[in-house]
Amino acid sequence: MRLSNKNAIITGGAGSIGSVVAKRYLEEGANVLIVDRDQKAIDSTLNELDGQGDNLTGLKIDVTSEESIRDTVQKATKIFKNGKIDILANIAGIGPFAKFPELKVEDWDKTLSVNLRGTFITSKYVVENMIENGGGVIVNMSSTNGLLAEEGLAAYNASKAGVILLSKTMALELAKYKIRVNSVCPGFIRTKLQDSAGLPKDMIDNYISKIPLGRLGTPLDVANVFVYLASDESAFITGTEIVVDGGQICQE
Ligand SMILES: NC(=O)c1ccc[n+]([C@@H]2O[C@H](COP(=O)([O-])OP(=O)(O)OC[C@H]3O[C@@H](n4cnc5c(N)ncnc54)[C@H](O)[C@@H]3O)[C@@H](O)[C@H]2O)c1
Repeated sequence: MRLSNKNAIITGGAGSIGSVVAKRYLEEGANVLIVDRDQKAIDSTLNELDGQGDNLTGLKIDVTSEESIRDTVQKATKIFKNGKIDILANIAGIGPFAKFPELKVEDWDKTLSVNLRGTFITSKYVVENMIENGGGVIVNMSSTNGLLAEEGLAAYNASKAGVILLSKTMALELAKYKIRVNSVCPGFIRTKLQDSAGLPKDMIDNYISKIPLGRLGTPLDVANVFVYLASDESAFITGTEIVVDGGQICQE
């Protein structure tokens, strides 16, 4: 019970990785509010995680909208009995594929708006609550694409690199309020979404051949790091990132 009685908001909490983070946070004793733009996915996540107690709630949010974020954070302070937000996991994200010069300005704007601007604005409103209540923890979803470039993902790569430096700056500015901020950089994580997209076997084998640990990551591999960074076990860790990629990017 490493998150006993902590109140956590998870953006993108109805997604492949976010829903597993929600499950792990519940298992560790947290009260969890999953927020996501996809109401159907919220409902099925709530259903799937049913039986974990009455400490799980879902709300629709659009992290590209400041008003939607402000409204959700306000509702969160009513949902959590003591009004405190102890943990924010910013996981909502998108990654449309297009190469130069075809990459459209609107796709660039949308990607930066969800992945980077959304992380900033959600953090901004949650931090107000954390300062009032004497501290908290923010864990932001970046990617190995925030550290190294991958073709066809210029907007995504730039947004995830932005998340890393946003997190470091927040860590510096918020340490005095006892707020820690870190990011997580997963490599290729095998999700239901990718399975249903039917990625060709040779493409998956090619990926695996670049991973020293010889397999793709799982949502649970990532969720366990979100637990660690949200818990007091990481009390002296702020302003850094943890790579979860089976060793893929530690080599030439
Ligand atoms: N799957 C991977 O291999 C991988 C690797 C590295 C990083 N990531 C990052 O992990 C996060 C989750 O990825 P996933 O694979 O679980 O994808 P996913 O599509 O299953 O989950 C993303 C969630 O974000 C939500 N979302 C999208 N736009 C939103 C908005 N405007 N407002 C609120 N919610 C919104 C979606 O509805 C979805 O539930 C993303 O940030 C992604 O970039 C994934």
